Amino acid sequence: MTQQTQQPEVNIGLVGHVDHGKTTLVQALSGSWTDQHSEEMKRGISIRLGYADATFRTVPGVDAPECYTVEETGPDGEETEVLRTVSFVDAPGHETLMATMLSGAAIMDGAVLVVSATEDVPQAQTEEHLMALDIIGIDNIVIAQNKIDLVDRERAVESYEQIQEFVSGTVAEDAPIVPVSAQQEVNIDLLIDAIEREIPTPERDETEDPRLFAARSFDINRPGTTWEDLSGGVVGGSVVQGKLSVDEELELRPGREVEEGGSSEWQPIETEIRSLQAGGQSVEEVRPGGLCGIGTGLDPSLTKGDALAGQVAGEPGTLPPTREQFTMDVELLDRIVGEDEGSVEEISTGEPLMLTVGTATTVGSVTSARSDEAEVALKRPVCAESGAKIAINRRVGARWRLIGVGTLQ
Ligand code: GTP
Repeated sequence: MTQQTQQPEVNIGLVGHVDHGKTTLVQALSGSWTDQHSEEMKRGISIRLGYADATFRTVPGVDAPECYTVEETGPDGEETEVLRTVSFVDAPGHETLMATMLSGAAIMDGAVLVVSATEDVPQAQTEEHLMALDIIGIDNIVIAQNKIDLVDRERAVESYEQIQEFVSGTVAEDAPIVPVSAQQEVNIDLLIDAIEREIPTPERDETEDPRLFAARSFDINRPGTTWEDLSGGVVGGSVVQGKLSVDEELELRPGREVEEGGSSEWQPIETEIRSLQAGGQSVEEVRPGGLCGIGTGLDPSLTKGDALAGQVAGEPGTLPPTREQFTMDVELLDRIVGEDEGSVEEISTGEPLMLTVGTATTVGSVTSARSDEAEVALKRPVCAESGAKIAINRRVGARWRLIGVGTLQ
């Protein structure tokens, strides 16, 4: 069992095709699932985006990479030294959960692309997830060639070469490829070594206006709780800049839809931060890195069932505008990555698109399209600033496929 010692300082995504071993690898890397979160929080976050913290440590006096561990004691019972605490955001690999992967990518500082040695490379979501990292601008990548316990040496080498060929010319071109077995916990020290080198903790400016991307929201009260004992709504997410502290005022945008005189309007929500949870503990302030939970003064019915997922929170008056429509510069992919490989046709006026902006996913209808820009009217508004990256998905057959990247004008 490992113990968390500090607030996580970096978010590392685990991405890749379904069943290639992302969740198993998170377990191997984190030693155990964090059990200090409230049950609701832990269960909640792993339903959509899996989530666990890990403290990387070194065994004193041992050379790299063998020195890397997540255990508190080394092989001879000696106390290990803490390097840093990280959070893993475990993205689902199933093709229908691409929107969840994309909203997770908005809070990743780097990623481990998990590729099984037992299957040909690339499988559909190996390629689609790598493309998503590229689009969102995540270029600190480590590749875990997993399940090496299931293949012979010849296949391991062949799979390694397939991975090299697949990533050549992509954002992961120079990413180290580490052969591992998540299940047998083989080469986990090498993987930690590669993560330490390739995914540094980004420089953070604590004086920037605080901003949190909400990934979840919940009502933590048990059914039947009387009003005197009712806890306020909880918002779960990741601080992407600045810091948030207990007792501060908090604004959430786009907020909520309010009906007035037959028409409806989105109004920001204001509340205060009553408590903060990060790294499995109650804390007074949270900085970027890791998911955190904010206990607010909101009516829990507002936060129930992820109602506030995709919102942006920060100091009142400092948040970007709420947009019900916007124009974006568009850069389309040459072809649809994954199985069908068809070419990407231009965006046309009237077509529906699924857009991921930060952790928000919304459907928009194209009101005007030119070759390199599109104007969209959104079903649900988003809070985003000019320059924000937007993952653009089009309906192809039964599902949404990633077709390009937009930049908010
Ligand atoms: P999704 O989250 O659904 O995309 O799947 P995943 O990528 O998280 O895969 P998961 O970790 O659930 O692993 C899928 C299966 O592969 C499980 O039965 C694991 O036990 C098995 N598995 C994962 N890693 C290894 C490995 O290194 N060796 C072997 N033999 N089995 C593994």
